[in-house]
Amino acid sequence: MEFTLTEEHKMIRDAARDFAQTELLSGVIDRDENQTFPNEQIKKLGQLGFMGMMVDPKYGGAGMDTVSYVLAMEEISKVDASTSVVMSVNNSLVCWGIETFGTEEQKEKYLKPLASGEIIGAFCLSEPEAGSDATSQKTTAKDMGDHYLLNGTKNWITNGGTASVYLVIAQTDVEKGHKGINALIIEKDMDGFQIGPKENKLGIRGSDTHSLMFTDVKVPKENRIGEDGFGFKFAMKTLSGGRIGIAAQALGIASGAYELALQYSKERKAFAKPISKHQAISFKLADMVTEIDAARLLCFRAAWMKDNGLNYDKEAAMAKVFASETAMKTTTEAVQIHGGYGFVKEYHVERLMRDAKITQIYEGTSEILRVVISRSVLK
Ligand code: CAA
Repeated sequence: MEFTLTEEHKMIRDAARDFAQTELLSGVIDRDENQTFPNEQIKKLGQLGFMGMMVDPKYGGAGMDTVSYVLAMEEISKVDASTSVVMSVNNSLVCWGIETFGTEEQKEKYLKPLASGEIIGAFCLSEPEAGSDATSQKTTAKDMGDHYLLNGTKNWITNGGTASVYLVIAQTDVEKGHKGINALIIEKDMDGFQIGPKENKLGIRGSDTHSLMFTDVKVPKENRIGEDGFGFKFAMKTLSGGRIGIAAQALGIASGAYELALQYSKERKAFAKPISKHQAISFKLADMVTEIDAARLLCFRAAWMKDNGLNYDKEAAMAKVFASETAMKTTTEAVQIHGGYGFVKEYHVERLMRDAKITQIYEGTSEILRVVISRSVLK
């Protein structure tokens, strides 16, 4: 068993850390306040190879492993979780989904610009009445011979307004249940595709989240991913990898808040000594760093299993449940350690606390992931 990072891993982590400090930190409070999408920053991440990290270089990707992706996600998320969610959806849902299950034509046409960061993608599963209960898709993709006719609404779609390519999950044959679901690649300018207003969110406010409406959108058959009826399994497999990315995002939010709290506790004096010297604070720091380490190890294990071709569904779910709960707990404690300063924007920890919440909700709520984990141990 090996617990040290390779030189390449360290280089990737350091590059992501530098990027976060030099390109993300200065504007992060403004982007959160004004709900500004990090356009320029995403372009630069693309140039660094961070928008298609795990994609084969022959399709414009960086050819890195999932452990590298976890390292980069942690560093970016420490500073700006709005940017890291854009990166995560593009990398682990959209690029991975097309690279793993798409046709050569789909890879040439869509994966190449997605992996290089020239365009970004969105993954569209959730609906007004189907988020966790993903088989109950109301969006329909009627088989019309050479094309599908897509109708319905998707909700809470990350990158909803800024993406150029959308992977949409829809029901073709309701009689067949989950085996009648398809995954289709939709382009932004297809007739009948409308983007709803931007959601005004509690956290990750710099990312853009929209509902999407499809009215008789004609989708060529060649835009279907996999065989007819593969859509539900496609979504499940893709989300499983996505959960490693969100676990790493939660890890980054937690470690970002911890680092700020540690620093602050050494500087802030009360009762004639730094507050870090008071046991009430030092024990909080001890719990925070222990839980963060455990979350990191769970992320690395799931990533390593994915890189080694093992089934990682349970481990990805465990990493996400634990890391997201750690993020919520750690950020709340970081605000507490900062006292009144923690409650105002310029100290960053209140934003990290707001950003942490979504990691318990998207790409599988903590409740659903406990279903995934318990089914796996009970079977
Ligand atoms: N890999 C492959 N196949 C899988 C699978 C996986 N990980 N998970 C399930 N399946 C298969 C099952 O084997 C089964 O196939 P068979 O009938 O051939 O055996 C089929 O899929 C149906 O599985 P279940 O009977 O387990 O389905 P279920 O209705 O009980 O639901 C669930 C299972 C785990 C609850 C699933 O619905 C789920 O994960 N829901 C959460 C969905 C989710 O994460 N939503 C978040 C929205 S996306 C998002 O947030 C994007 C964003 O913008 C950030």
